[in-house]
Amino acid sequence: MGLIRVDLEKCERDGICVDVCPVHILVLNHDMRPEVAPGMAQYCIGCGHCVAACPHEALNNVRSPLAEQGKLPAYPVVDSETALAFLRSRRSIRRYTDFPVPRELIVRLLQAARYAPSGHNSQGISYIVVDELSALKRIRGLVADWMREVIVSQPEMANRLHMPGIVRAHERGEDLILRDAPALIVAIAPKDLRPAPITACLALEYVELYATTLSLGTCWAGYAQVCAQQYPPLAEYLRLKEEMGVLGMLMVGYPRYRYHRLPERNALQIEWFDAKSS
Ligand SMILES: Cc1cc2nc3c(=O)[nH]c(=O)nc-3n(C[C@H](O)[C@H](O)[C@H](O)COP(=O)(O)O)c2cc1C
Ligand code: SF4
Repeated sequence: MGLIRVDLEKCERDGICVDVCPVHILVLNHDMRPEVAPGMAQYCIGCGHCVAACPHEALNNVRSPLAEQGKLPAYPVVDSETALAFLRSRRSIRRYTDFPVPRELIVRLLQAARYAPSGHNSQGISYIVVDELSALKRIRGLVADWMREVIVSQPEMANRLHMPGIVRAHERGEDLILRDAPALIVAIAPKDLRPAPITACLALEYVELYATTLSLGTCWAGYAQVCAQQYPPLAEYLRLKEEMGVLGMLMVGYPRYRYHRLPERNALQIEWFDAKSS
Protein backbone atom coordinates (compact mmCIF):
# COMPACT_ATOMS: atom_id res chain seq x y z
CA MET A 1 0.00 0.00 0.00
CA GLY A 2 1.17 3.53 -0.76
CA LEU A 3 0.64 6.29 1.78
CA ILE A 4 -3.16 6.22 1.47
CA ARG A 5 -5.78 3.70 0.44
CA VAL A 6 -9.26 4.78 -0.64
CA ASP A 7 -12.25 2.46 -0.26
CA LEU A 8 -13.99 3.24 -3.54
CA GLU A 9 -17.32 1.89 -2.32
CA LYS A 10 -17.35 4.18 0.69
CA CYS A 11 -15.74 7.29 -0.79
CA GLU A 12 -18.36 9.97 -1.45
CA ARG A 13 -15.91 12.20 -3.36
CA ASP A 14 -16.53 15.12 -1.01
CA GLY A 15 -12.87 16.17 -0.91
CA ILE A 16 -12.83 16.70 2.86
CA CYS A 17 -9.59 14.76 3.28
CA VAL A 18 -7.91 16.94 0.66
CA ASP A 19 -9.17 20.09 2.31
CA VAL A 20 -8.02 19.26 5.85
CA CYS A 21 -4.51 18.00 5.06
CA PRO A 22 -2.24 20.58 6.73
CA VAL A 23 0.59 20.03 4.28
CA HIS A 24 -1.59 19.93 1.13
CA ILE A 25 -0.21 16.71 -0.25
CA LEU A 26 -3.59 15.23 -1.21
CA VAL A 27 -5.37 16.10 -4.45
CA LEU A 28 -8.57 14.95 -6.16
CA ASN A 29 -8.04 12.96 -9.33
CA HIS A 30 -10.18 13.10 -12.49
CA ASP A 31 -12.70 10.83 -10.74
CA MET A 32 -12.88 13.14 -7.68
CA ARG A 33 -11.08 10.53 -5.56
CA PRO A 34 -8.25 11.59 -3.27
CA GLU A 35 -4.70 10.64 -4.12
CA VAL A 36 -1.27 11.73 -3.05
CA ALA A 37 0.22 14.38 -5.31
CA PRO A 38 3.23 12.95 -7.18
CA GLY A 39 6.37 12.89 -5.03
CA MET A 40 4.61 14.38 -2.01
CA ALA A 41 4.12 11.32 0.22
CA GLN A 42 7.38 12.08 2.04
CA TYR A 43 5.85 15.30 3.40
CA CYS A 44 3.05 13.54 5.27
CA ILE A 45 3.41 14.39 8.97
CA GLY A 46 1.21 11.51 10.09
CA CYS A 47 -1.29 13.79 11.82
CA GLY A 48 -4.23 11.60 10.78
CA HIS A 49 -6.55 14.50 9.92
CA CYS A 50 -7.41 13.02 6.51
CA VAL A 51 -8.58 9.74 8.06
CA ALA A 52 -10.27 11.35 11.07
CA ALA A 53 -12.28 13.91 9.10
CA CYS A 54 -13.67 11.42 6.56
CA PRO A 55 -17.32 10.82 7.59
CA HIS A 56 -17.46 7.57 5.60
CA GLU A 57 -14.40 5.67 6.92
CA ALA A 58 -13.31 5.59 3.30
CA LEU A 59 -9.69 6.62 3.75
CA ASN A 60 -6.76 4.82 5.29
CA ASN A 61 -3.26 6.16 5.79
CA VAL A 62 -0.25 4.05 6.76
CA ARG A 63 1.08 6.90 8.92
CA SER A 64 -2.17 7.05 10.92
CA PRO A 65 -4.21 3.90 10.23
CA LEU A 66 -7.99 3.98 10.46
CA ALA A 67 -7.93 0.89 12.70
CA GLU A 68 -5.84 2.79 15.28
CA GLN A 69 -8.09 5.84 15.40
CA GLY A 70 -10.65 5.77 18.21
CA LYS A 71 -14.18 6.90 17.43
CA LEU A 72 -15.31 10.41 18.37
CA PRO A 73 -19.10 10.05 18.52
CA ALA A 74 -19.86 13.59 19.69
CA TYR A 75 -18.13 16.92 19.44
CA PRO A 76 -17.73 18.95 21.59
CA VAL A 77 -16.94 16.26 24.14
CA VAL A 78 -17.77 18.44 27.15
CA ASP A 79 -19.92 21.53 27.47
CA SER A 80 -18.08 24.81 27.75
CA GLU A 81 -18.99 25.55 31.36
CA THR A 82 -17.80 22.15 32.54
CA ALA A 83 -14.64 22.56 30.51
CA LEU A 84 -13.89 25.97 31.98
CA ALA A 85 -14.42 24.70 35.52
CA PHE A 86 -12.17 21.74 34.69
CA LEU A 87 -9.44 24.02 33.35
CA ARG A 88 -9.72 26.36 36.32
CA SER A 89 -9.68 23.49 38.81
CA ARG A 90 -6.08 22.67 37.95
CA ARG A 91 -3.88 24.22 40.62
CA SER A 92 -0.20 23.86 41.44
CA ILE A 93 -0.23 21.42 44.33
CA ARG A 94 2.53 21.84 46.90
CA ARG A 95 1.24 19.70 49.76
CA TYR A 96 0.94 15.99 49.15
CA THR A 97 -0.13 12.99 51.18
CA ASP A 98 2.41 10.22 51.73
CA PHE A 99 0.52 7.86 49.42
CA PRO A 100 2.67 6.73 46.51
CA VAL A 101 1.29 7.22 43.02
CA PRO A 102 0.62 3.82 41.41
CA ARG A 103 2.82 3.41 38.37
CA GLU A 104 -0.16 2.52 36.20
CA LEU A 105 -1.58 6.00 36.90
CA ILE A 106 1.72 7.62 35.90
CA VAL A 107 1.54 5.62 32.68
CA ARG A 108 -2.03 6.84 32.11
CA LEU A 109 -0.93 10.43 32.59
CA LEU A 110 1.89 10.04 30.11
CA GLN A 111 -0.32 8.22 27.63
CA ALA A 112 -2.64 11.25 27.70
CA ALA A 113 0.32 13.55 27.08
CA ARG A 114 0.93 11.85 23.72
CA TYR A 115 -2.13 13.66 22.36
CA ALA A 116 -0.72 17.14 22.91
CA PRO A 117 -0.01 19.17 19.78
CA SER A 118 3.54 19.41 18.49
CA GLY A 119 5.17 21.38 15.70
CA HIS A 120 4.86 19.32 12.49
CA ASN A 121 3.51 16.50 14.65
CA SER A 122 7.12 15.85 15.63
CA GLN A 123 6.16 14.57 19.13
CA GLY A 124 9.46 13.09 20.39
CA ILE A 125 9.11 13.66 24.14
CA SER A 126 10.06 10.81 26.47
CA TYR A 127 10.14 10.64 30.23
CA ILE A 128 12.20 9.62 33.21
CA VAL A 129 9.96 8.95 36.20
CA VAL A 130 11.44 9.08 39.69
CA ASP A 131 9.25 7.52 42.37
CA GLU A 132 11.74 6.14 44.87
CA LEU A 133 11.97 8.30 47.98
CA SER A 134 15.74 7.81 48.24
CA ALA A 135 16.18 9.05 44.66
CA LEU A 136 13.91 12.04 45.24
CA LYS A 137 15.95 12.88 48.32
CA ARG A 138 19.17 12.65 46.31
CA ILE A 139 17.74 14.96 43.63
CA ARG A 140 16.71 17.49 46.29
CA GLY A 141 20.23 17.33 47.69
CA LEU A 142 21.79 17.93 44.29
CA VAL A 143 19.49 20.89 43.63
CA ALA A 144 20.49 22.35 47.01
CA ASP A 145 24.19 21.83 46.14
CA TRP A 146 23.64 23.65 42.84
CA MET A 147 21.85 26.50 44.63
CA ARG A 148 24.76 26.89 47.05
CA GLU A 149 27.04 27.35 44.03
CA VAL A 150 24.66 29.84 42.40
CA ILE A 151 24.40 31.82 45.66
CA VAL A 152 28.18 32.34 45.49
CA SER A 153 28.58 32.83 41.72
CA GLN A 154 25.40 34.83 40.96
CA PRO A 155 24.18 36.22 44.29
CA GLU A 156 21.72 38.70 42.78
CA MET A 157 19.96 36.09 40.71
CA ALA A 158 20.06 33.62 43.59
CA ASN A 159 18.34 36.16 45.85
CA ARG A 160 15.76 36.99 43.22
CA LEU A 161 14.91 33.29 42.98
CA HIS A 162 14.78 32.90 46.80
CA MET A 163 17.61 30.38 46.73
CA PRO A 164 19.17 31.24 50.13
CA GLY A 165 15.84 30.61 51.88
CA ILE A 166 15.25 27.39 49.95
CA VAL A 167 18.68 26.08 50.92
CA ARG A 168 18.11 27.04 54.58
CA ALA A 169 14.77 25.22 54.49
CA HIS A 170 16.46 22.20 52.93
CA GLU A 171 19.02 22.18 55.75
CA ARG A 172 16.28 22.05 58.38
CA GLY A 173 14.48 19.27 56.51
CA GLU A 174 11.78 21.31 54.78
CA ASP A 175 11.41 20.55 51.07
CA LEU A 176 10.68 23.66 49.01
CA ILE A 177 12.32 22.06 45.96
CA LEU A 178 10.19 18.98 45.29
CA ARG A 179 7.58 19.65 47.99
CA ASP A 180 7.84 16.07 49.29
CA ALA A 181 5.98 14.88 46.20
CA PRO A 182 6.12 11.09 45.90
CA ALA A 183 6.84 11.18 42.17
CA LEU A 184 8.68 13.34 39.69
CA ILE A 185 8.17 13.26 35.93
CA VAL A 186 11.13 14.47 33.88
CA ALA A 187 10.36 15.30 30.24
CA ILE A 188 13.33 14.80 27.95
CA ALA A 189 13.97 15.00 24.22
CA PRO A 190 16.89 15.00 21.80
CA LYS A 191 18.65 18.36 22.01
CA ASP A 192 18.40 18.79 18.23
CA LEU A 193 14.61 18.31 18.10
CA ARG A 194 13.74 21.96 17.56
CA PRO A 195 10.03 22.01 18.49
CA ALA A 196 10.70 19.95 21.65
CA PRO A 197 10.79 22.75 24.28
CA ILE A 198 7.25 23.85 23.40
CA THR A 199 6.06 20.28 22.84
CA ALA A 200 7.31 19.27 26.29
CA CYS A 201 5.44 22.16 27.94
CA LEU A 202 2.25 21.25 26.13
CA ALA A 203 2.65 17.56 26.97
CA LEU A 204 3.20 18.32 30.64
CA GLU A 205 0.16 20.59 30.65
CA TYR A 206 -1.89 17.70 29.31
CA VAL A 207 -0.49 15.69 32.23
CA GLU A 208 -1.42 18.42 34.72
CA LEU A 209 -4.97 18.70 33.44
CA TYR A 210 -5.58 14.99 33.08
CA ALA A 211 -4.12 14.37 36.55
CA THR A 212 -7.06 16.22 38.10
CA THR A 213 -9.43 13.57 36.73
CA LEU A 214 -7.47 10.87 38.57
CA SER A 215 -7.57 12.84 41.86
CA LEU A 216 -3.87 13.56 41.46
CA GLY A 217 -2.14 16.88 41.91
CA THR A 218 0.89 18.25 40.10
CA CYS A 219 3.26 21.19 40.16
CA TRP A 220 6.08 22.25 37.86
CA ALA A 221 9.45 21.63 39.52
CA GLY A 222 11.16 24.65 38.00
CA TYR A 223 14.20 24.71 40.29
CA ALA A 224 15.00 21.05 39.68
CA GLN A 225 14.41 21.52 35.96
CA VAL A 226 16.85 24.42 35.61
CA CYS A 227 19.32 22.58 37.83
CA ALA A 228 19.18 19.53 35.52
CA GLN A 229 19.84 21.85 32.58
CA GLN A 230 22.76 23.69 34.19
CA TYR A 231 24.35 21.40 36.76
CA PRO A 232 25.98 18.27 35.31
CA PRO A 233 25.86 16.23 38.55
CA LEU A 234 22.04 16.14 38.39
CA ALA A 235 21.98 15.26 34.68
CA GLU A 236 24.53 12.54 35.45
CA TYR A 237 22.48 11.23 38.38
CA LEU A 238 19.46 10.99 36.08
CA ARG A 239 21.74 9.11 33.66
CA LEU A 240 20.76 11.50 30.92
CA LYS A 241 22.38 10.64 27.61
CA GLU A 242 24.64 13.34 26.15
CA GLU A 243 22.27 13.98 23.21
CA MET A 244 19.20 14.39 25.43
CA GLY A 245 18.03 17.52 27.23
CA VAL A 246 15.64 18.07 30.14
CA LEU A 247 12.69 20.20 29.04
CA GLY A 248 10.34 20.07 31.98
CA MET A 249 9.77 18.51 35.38
CA LEU A 250 6.50 17.87 37.13
CA MET A 251 5.88 16.78 40.72
CA VAL A 252 2.97 14.35 41.07
CA GLY A 253 1.11 13.09 44.10
CA TYR A 254 -2.19 12.99 45.93
CA PRO A 255 -3.12 16.48 47.16
CA ARG A 256 -3.30 16.77 50.93
CA TYR A 257 -6.06 19.38 50.69
CA ARG A 258 -9.09 19.79 48.50
CA TYR A 259 -9.66 23.23 47.02
CA HIS A 260 -13.15 24.71 47.31
CA ARG A 261 -12.88 27.93 45.31
CA LEU A 262 -11.68 29.05 41.88
CA PRO A 263 -9.69 32.30 42.21
CA GLU A 264 -9.65 35.00 39.56
CA ARG A 265 -6.64 35.82 37.42
CA ASN A 266 -5.54 39.18 36.05
CA ALA A 267 -8.10 40.82 33.78
CA LEU A 268 -7.89 39.79 30.14
CA GLN A 269 -5.67 42.05 28.04
CA ILE A 270 -6.69 42.03 24.42
CA GLU A 271 -6.07 44.34 21.52
CA TRP A 272 -7.89 43.88 18.22
CA PHE A 273 -5.37 44.62 15.52
CA ASP A 274 -6.51 47.42 13.26
CA ALA A 275 -4.86 47.01 9.86
CA LYS A 276 -5.94 50.52 8.80
CA SER A 277 -3.72 52.14 11.43
CA SER A 278 -0.64 50.12 10.46
C1 LIG B 1 4.42 25.21 18.56
C2 LIG B 1 3.53 24.71 17.47
C3 LIG B 1 3.54 25.33 16.25
C4 LIG B 1 2.68 24.90 15.24
N1 LIG B 1 2.66 25.59 14.07
C5 LIG B 1 1.79 25.23 13.10
C6 LIG B 1 1.69 25.99 11.90
O1 LIG B 1 2.41 26.98 11.71
N2 LIG B 1 0.80 25.61 10.96
C7 LIG B 1 0.00 24.52 11.12
O2 LIG B 1 -0.78 24.21 10.24
N3 LIG B 1 0.06 23.77 12.26
C8 LIG B 1 0.92 24.12 13.25
N4 LIG B 1 0.97 23.41 14.43
C9 LIG B 1 0.05 22.29 14.62
C10 LIG B 1 0.76 20.93 14.51
O3 LIG B 1 1.09 20.64 13.17
C11 LIG B 1 -0.18 19.88 15.12
O4 LIG B 1 -0.24 20.09 16.51
C12 LIG B 1 0.26 18.45 14.86
O5 LIG B 1 0.25 18.18 13.48
C13 LIG B 1 -0.66 17.43 15.56
O6 LIG B 1 -1.99 17.59 15.11
P1 LIG B 1 -3.18 17.97 16.09
O7 LIG B 1 -2.79 19.24 16.82
O8 LIG B 1 -4.36 18.19 15.18
O9 LIG B 1 -3.36 16.83 17.02
C14 LIG B 1 1.83 23.79 15.45
C15 LIG B 1 1.86 23.15 16.69
C16 LIG B 1 2.68 23.61 17.70
C17 LIG B 1 2.68 22.92 19.03
S1 SF4 C 1 -1.86 12.17 7.80
FE1 SF4 C 1 -1.99 14.43 7.89
S2 SF4 C 1 -0.28 15.13 6.61
FE2 SF4 C 1 -0.57 12.95 6.13
S3 SF4 C 1 -1.94 12.96 4.35
FE3 SF4 C 1 -3.26 12.79 6.15
S4 SF4 C 1 -3.83 14.90 6.65
FE4 SF4 C 1 -2.06 15.01 5.25
